[in-house]
Amino acid sequence: MQDALAQWEYTTALPADENGLTNPYHGVSCEEYVGTVLPKLISFEHPVGMPEWFVPETYYYLWDGDRLVGEFRIRHYLTEALRNGAGHIGYSIRKDMRGKGYGTAGLKLTLEIARGIVPEDEIYLRVNKDNIASQKVMLKNGARTAGEDEKHYFMRIPK
Ligand SMILES: CC(C)(COP(=O)(O)OP(=O)(O)OC[C@H]1O[C@@H](n2cnc3c(N)ncnc32)[C@H](O)[C@@H]1OP(=O)(O)O)[C@@H](O)C(=O)NCCC(=O)NCCS
Repeated sequence: MQDALAQWEYTTALPADENGLTNPYHGVSCEEYVGTVLPKLISFEHPVGMPEWFVPETYYYLWDGDRLVGEFRIRHYLTEALRNGAGHIGYSIRKDMRGKGYGTAGLKLTLEIARGIVPEDEIYLRVNKDNIASQKVMLKNGARTAGEDEKHYFMRIPK
């Protein structure tokens, strides 16, 4: 329950959309998070009753001691939409803890897990062209730029 409360505090404060990372649970109450949102997020790992396009997704939380500092999501495989879109991994770090290396360290840990889950030869990521911090996080984890569109770079990290 203590972990759930920390996750609620993180999730409800995370903006609804920051640099393309979407969070439909911004502003959710503690009661709703624990009763409805958290069971739903857990079920995303083994989805039941979800549309066919829905790819299993696992949420991980980065802790430093007793402080939850970030969230990392792994989508287990690519569909056409994910291949040309958000890719395998999405992440965020708590605002007051940014710029201290947590993003870089958290992606490193997440990649170790993702390598055991995703079937593709490379880990796909997408980043907004104006999101320099996230580009650095990816590059420091061995990413290369595989393509771009008007707003984004499409990055890949070898498995
Ligand atoms: C992107 C994000 C996860 C980075 O997390 P972080 O913990 O601040 O990352 P790090 O501390 O590991 O910093 C990585 C690099 O970016 C740099 N950086 C951090 N904030 C920056 C900023 N606002 N502008 C430019 N560079 C920045 C750091 O200095 C560091 O570079 P360095 O090693 O050369 O010094 C965090 O800013 C965040 O949660 N942003 C909102 C959500 C988001 O954009 N998610 C990613 C979507 S692709």
